[in-house]
Amino acid sequence: MSSFMIYGATGYTGSLIAREAVRQAMHPILGGRTAERLASLAGELGLERRAFSLDSPGAIADGLRDVHTLLNCAGPFSRTARPMADACLRNGTHYLDITGEADVFEALAAWDAQARDAGVVLLPGVGFDVVPSDCLAVHLKRRLPTATRLALGFQSAGRLSRGTALTALERVAGGGLVRENGLLKSVPAASKTRVIDFGKGPARAITIPWGDVATAFYSTGVGNIEVYMAAPWSIRAGARLTRWLHWLLRATFVQNWLRRRILARPPGPTEDERRQNRCYFWGEATDPSGGKAVARQQTPDGYDLTAETSLAAAARVLNGAVSAGFKTPAKAFGADFVLEIAGVTRTDD
Ligand SMILES: NC(=O)c1ccc[n+]([C@@H]2O[C@H](COP(=O)([O-])OP(=O)(O)OC[C@H]3O[C@@H](n4cnc5c(N)ncnc54)[C@H](OP(=O)(O)O)[C@@H]3O)[C@@H](O)[C@H]2O)c1
Repeated sequence: MSSFMIYGATGYTGSLIAREAVRQAMHPILGGRTAERLASLAGELGLERRAFSLDSPGAIADGLRDVHTLLNCAGPFSRTARPMADACLRNGTHYLDITGEADVFEALAAWDAQARDAGVVLLPGVGFDVVPSDCLAVHLKRRLPTATRLALGFQSAGRLSRGTALTALERVAGGGLVRENGLLKSVPAASKTRVIDFGKGPARAITIPWGDVATAFYSTGVGNIEVYMAAPWSIRAGARLTRWLHWLLRATFVQNWLRRRILARPPGPTEDERRQNRCYFWGEATDPSGGKAVARQQTPDGYDLTAETSLAAAARVLNGAVSAGFKTPAKAFGADFVLEIAGVTRTDD
């Protein structure tokens, strides 16, 4: 078994990854639930295809036959990660995905023992969320081994894809999330505001329930984690408003109205928009005796980065370089993994 499948290949991000895979002379099998879209993409790229939905374990098992490594790009992952990872454990297929959803990371982390027993790698989050920030977290812990607190954050002017917006919509009424003394804790949306220099001068940033509140704990062992996103006034005000309107945002008619608005937008940023966008990461580790380490990273646009990091991760798993069990990207490949991607830089304060 040496085959590699990209599932959700017909999505905006899945097709970016499939095209990049072909450019890198990888020959993935393309998987997805909508046969016609899959046939069109696989035909264009000259790749094998398998259409199957995630509604029945039997169909997934059949779809994954002989697949050594799966890269799941079908999100929201709250709906796809569990059935796919479960099938991978039964089938002996290594599982990777590009989720950034904290609940999904936690669910897969809880399957660590089963994954070890099955000899299967469970490696979620191999995209923009969380590769750069996870590498930054481990780098900071390396510089300050006594760290007990991590603050991580990013700034990006790039547009979101429809799939990312739909995934964010699922959580919009759920408030914020931080890690405190090793445990995930729900907090009000945008519970903290902080002025951060991400590398382009000071910017106001708010806390968000980003995937690192889950993953950075497994990567570093640091039990207190918050994640910030630079946000203009309108986003900060909107995020705070969700504290009072969460009941309304949960209402089916509001969710459906917002879904329709998202689906009416283009699938994602154009190639030109992505080429012009840069992303800025900042991280700070602190310890109880006043020790502090700060570092910054710059990366290409999040979707281009996702294509590069997810394929680099998949290639290593295909080569047998990762041991079985639940892994975070930096746990699997080290803090410098992200620096292998063209256009990524890191500086220490
Ligand atoms: N971690 C990161 O940095 C990162 C980066 C990019 C994207 N993402 C995440 O990746 C996901 C996809 O984003 P996108 O922009 O590619 O979205 P998209 O264009 O809407 O594509 C979604 C893909 O997932 C498939 N899909 C959705 N739900 C499914 C289900 N229940 N069963 C089977 N297939 C399903 C869709 O199939 P159909 O075409 O048949 O509907 C489509 O192929 C989102 O959750 C997004 O947040 C994460």
